[in-house]
Amino acid sequence: MSEQNTDIQQDHQQFVEPLSDWRRTGTCGELTLADDGRDVCLMGWAQYRRDHGGLIFVDMRDRAGLTQVVFSPEIAPEAHEKASILRSEYVFAIRGRVRPRPEGMTNPNMVTGEIEVVVHEWKLLNTSKTPPFPIEDRCEAGETLRLQWRYLDLRRPRMAKNLMLRHKVAQCVRRYLDENGFLEIETPVLTKSTPEGARDFLVPSRLNHGMFYALPQSPQIFKQLLMVSGMERYFQIVRCFRDEDLRADRQPEFTQVDIEMSFVDEEQVMTMAEGLMAGVFKETKGLDLPLPFPRMTYDEAMSRYGVDKPDTRFGLELADVTSIVRGSGFKLFARAELVKAMKVPGGEKLTRKEIDDFTEFVKIYGAQGLAWIKIRPDEWQSPIAKFLSEDERRGIRDALDLQVGDIVFFQAGESAMVNAALGNLRVHLGEHLGLIPEDAYNFLWVTDFPLFEYDTEEKRYVACHHPFTSPAVGHMALMTADPAAARARAYDMVLNGSEVGGGSIRNHSGEVQRRMFDALGFDREEAEARFGFLIHALEHGAPPHGGIAFGLDRLVMILSGSSSIRDVIAFPKTQKATCLMTEAPNTVSARQLRELGLRLREQTREEQAK
Ligand code: AMO
Repeated sequence: MSEQNTDIQQDHQQFVEPLSDWRRTGTCGELTLADDGRDVCLMGWAQYRRDHGGLIFVDMRDRAGLTQVVFSPEIAPEAHEKASILRSEYVFAIRGRVRPRPEGMTNPNMVTGEIEVVVHEWKLLNTSKTPPFPIEDRCEAGETLRLQWRYLDLRRPRMAKNLMLRHKVAQCVRRYLDENGFLEIETPVLTKSTPEGARDFLVPSRLNHGMFYALPQSPQIFKQLLMVSGMERYFQIVRCFRDEDLRADRQPEFTQVDIEMSFVDEEQVMTMAEGLMAGVFKETKGLDLPLPFPRMTYDEAMSRYGVDKPDTRFGLELADVTSIVRGSGFKLFARAELVKAMKVPGGEKLTRKEIDDFTEFVKIYGAQGLAWIKIRPDEWQSPIAKFLSEDERRGIRDALDLQVGDIVFFQAGESAMVNAALGNLRVHLGEHLGLIPEDAYNFLWVTDFPLFEYDTEEKRYVACHHPFTSPAVGHMALMTADPAAARARAYDMVLNGSEVGGGSIRNHSGEVQRRMFDALGFDREEAEARFGFLIHALEHGAPPHGGIAFGLDRLVMILSGSSSIRDVIAFPKTQKATCLMTEAPNTVSARQLRELGLRLREQTREEQAK
């Protein structure tokens, strides 16, 4: 379609007509040979216009697909003459008759690829300026441009499909939970801080100067209060807000399918969650998920995969070789808290450049470097081989079942770093070497999480899940005696290496909840000030309860095969938490600040330089 400029577009405004009594008979994505001879009325956007031997062909697009419409000088001369004004993204309506496309012009890849609609009359409903990028899936516009013009980006079939899939998942969730006795209940957005481990977004109160609401990191406390209210089964498809570092699968505002149930233990929550996933996959993918999902304890996941959300679609498991190299001449190994190895079968072919790239990769996780050994027929080729004794070699060979052609990567040091570096390298290698099967959906429950984790910055224990999670049966005393050993009644649902859901059985006793706050280092007064309302509620007949929340965006991202969570959110934020279209966040007027009782301090030079 030819370039147009603003002048032409403005000139074409004179041809715009009202919709009046025209009504669509269907969408642009559904007509087939079975509709041959049908009179139809379609409305949509002009995708391509081709002028061919007197005929004008236009692909009309709506969210359902494309239909080829034909303007013929013989059949409708007036309509044909006017069709020359049609440009990219003009909005138009046609009335016409379905007919088979001539031989050689069919497109078997499209539902509507065997028909076309011969136009009898048509209306221009609106013109359009030239879009900043072509509205098609092949478009190579950068994400910045796409986010600035998000409403145009969403016209692209892939994006529209993602939003339709998201809708389908949401409807399926609602249906399943409704059928299983869950009530959909809304909870406040202007609320008090809920500790899910991230920073809060704060909203200053105009009516209470110096006071702030926090936007909910999740409705955790409210859903527990609803259990105390006797609602028994609650759900909500709800926006949550977390001011944290963003990644491809994280947004500052994201959507949870949030669920809570009374009178249940972990088994019932997990069975219900599996049923929900089975329903979603059946409806959106036509797949029958094998139930129940496999389970793995947190300790096993960390030991075999180095992460608490293992991608089980491929091998490359990690092996602990600490005891084998304990007395090694290679001091780094001998002294390390943990030494782990990962064998890559056939990896001997990896080049020096690739290994250098992997070394850079593990540095993200605090590693200093990456040791490796290539198993050659006649030697172990490696910068570290000379430090290893015969016994150590035998030990490593047996532990990893090494074969000629393998490469082994090692990481040694502090446990958390070793696991993070090798665990993430494993996923990186899985992708790099094409080991991950497409269209495989590997669900996994990770269970028996630690109750606490040590926060090295704050130098104290923090809740691993959240502070309302119940300790494992029999672990109450450990909460103070040996916090690192205490386990939680928490479970995460992992899909293809991504945490798609997490939940727990809660403390329904006020006293246990108080002891939890004690263990976290809150004094009683502080606990009362922050969470008194919850503790009081637990003291007024709280039933045993537990629940789970799914990350809807992450789930739809995986279902749609997208690589970024932004591709399944209508209006997402950038990595810097900005909206390029509306330009939020933005400055506010001095008056607004005054009303809120706020004054901005001058930025320091360093802050300005950032
Ligand atoms: P949790 O913090 O594990 O649990 O969150 C539940 C799920 O929400 C998704 N998720 C996110 N998705 C996108 N962007 C983010 N920034 C983000 N953060 C979390 C993940 C995660 O599994 N109240 C508890 C649930 C409960 O205990 O019932 C909670 O919020 O998929």
